[in-house]
Amino acid sequence: MNPRQVFLSLLIFGVAGLLLFMYLQVWIEEQHTGRMEKKREQKASSVTAEKIQEHITNQNSKFHMPEVLMGKKENLLDPERPTRNLTKISVSQAGDQACKAVEKHRGTQMLSVKSSETNWPLDIRPLNKSLVKDSKWKNTDETQEKRRSFLQEFCRKYGAVSHRQSHLFHMVSRIYVEDKHKILYCEVPKAGCSNWKRILMVLNGLASSAYNISHDAVHYGKHLKKLDSFDLRGIYTRLNTYTKAVFVRDPMERLVSAFRDKFEHPNSYYHPVFGKAIIKKYRPNACEEALNNGSGVKFKEFIHYLLDSHRPVGMDIHWEKVSKLCYPCLINYDFVGKFETLEEDANYFLQMIGAPKELKFPNFKDRHSSDKRTNAQVVRQYLKDLNRTERQLIYDFYYLDYLMFNYTTPFL
Ligand SMILES: *[C@@H]1O[C@H](CO)[C@@H](O)[C@H](O)[C@H]1NC(C)=O
Ligand SMILES: *[C@@H]1O[C@H](CO)[C@@H](O)[C@H](O)[C@H]1NC(C)=O
Ligand SMILES: *[C@@H]1O[C@H](CO)[C@@H](O)[C@H](O)[C@H]1NC(C)=O
Ligand SMILES: *[C@@H]1O[C@H](CO)[C@@H](O)[C@H](O)[C@H]1NC(C)=O
Ligand SMILES: *[C@@H]1O[C@H](CO)[C@@H](O)[C@H](O)[C@H]1NC(C)=O
Ligand SMILES: *[C@@H]1O[C@H](CO)[C@@H](O)[C@H](O)[C@H]1NC(C)=O
Repeated sequence: MNPRQVFLSLLIFGVAGLLLFMYLQVWIEEQHTGRMEKKREQKASSVTAEKIQEHITNQNSKFHMPEVLMGKKENLLDPERPTRNLTKISVSQAGDQACKAVEKHRGTQMLSVKSSETNWPLDIRPLNKSLVKDSKWKNTDETQEKRRSFLQEFCRKYGAVSHRQSHLFHMVSRIYVEDKHKILYCEVPKAGCSNWKRILMVLNGLASSAYNISHDAVHYGKHLKKLDSFDLRGIYTRLNTYTKAVFVRDPMERLVSAFRDKFEHPNSYYHPVFGKAIIKKYRPNACEEALNNGSGVKFKEFIHYLLDSHRPVGMDIHWEKVSKLCYPCLINYDFVGKFETLEEDANYFLQMIGAPKELKFPNFKDRHSSDKRTNAQVVRQYLKDLNRTERQLIYDFYYLDYLMFNYTTPFL
């Protein structure tokens, strides 16, 4: 063989090798996707798989600076904006209820529905207070009206509200339905949601008392329906005629509360799934055992994960922004409750919707009940581990939540 032939055959082998490599990569990817799909099918039989589906919201959600500061106004409040192919992404990853519904309806009427053909609840309605007789609710009511108009005004100013129906099922996927009293409740974890679900179960006749429903029965029982389990007509009818409520909490307190709940106690889901990945990426010289069990994540490490635009593992509903869980500028909630005044707000709400007189919002803490509740003082203790820049970045991360719900920033 002359040198030219040697060169040619080397080239051919090289190209063939490259092709083989590319083929293998595609094959491996396919295998992986296949496994994910199989996992989704095994949902019913595996609690862990179910929990993963329940909790992972959007793997690709990216950290981004507040656009309001950068002077952009357009579509600010459309949380889908950064990940345009979100529907597709979520389907291949989490396969939660919303995504299944999207799959189910994809290609049928859903994607072609225009907002003119539907009755999207554009305007916030006056609250029907005919059942509230007692004058003791006067202050609560005034506060409520202020919050409602504040949110509405904020959304009017900044929300170039788009009604892209393709995301409808995703948008309502965190909303629970109580048909007897016509309530829609958007679940915000770490803001009293367990007790709210207990109340909804009692209202719906699924339980006789809120006090003996276990934490697992609340979260993994299949009792309460979510709004995305209805068809389009069912969703629109309820959005237009039911009382829609959301309960929120100071973003920093909610974040610290989520960290304490998930990382400071043994947890068979958060430690292996989030803990391991966080320790691996953010702890230099981590020891073998910590890498294997994922326990003992430090608050600072958790914050590095939260603020990382290339997170090794996705976001989770417990620390996801309310603006992304409940879409406050698109859903037009009738009632905005706050964790800071939870019992008062909740009991006022129960009066308003005509709940039985004896039903009162429970005030117990059902998990780690011996721990001190996360309050401002506890938060300050945790924030000591962070520097000013990091605290500012957390604020930026939850910027919309701070703004929409008029939370001040005592921790900066
Ligand atoms: C979404 O994904 C589809 C198929 O993967 C692609 O054709 C389309 O361009 C993507 N759209 C956007 C907005 O990225
Ligand atoms: C307000 O609620 C009461 C009692 O549920 C009902 O009778 C009345 O029709 C409602 N009013 C409006 C304007 O919806
Ligand atoms: C917003 O918060 C500030 C400071 O806590 C308070 O003084 C003000 O009344 C609130 N505004 C509304 C509309 O609730
Ligand atoms: C709660 O207690 C009531 C009676 O006190 C009982 O009838 C009911 O079955 C209990 N519910 C659960 C979920 O244990
Ligand atoms: C996990 O590893 C750490 C670090 O060695 C250890 O201190 C801790 O006890 C382990 N936790 C569990 C639950 O095994
Ligand atoms: C704050 O901490 C980060 C690491 O998380 C570091 O990169 C940054 O330089 C620190 N900033 C100040 C002002 O110390």
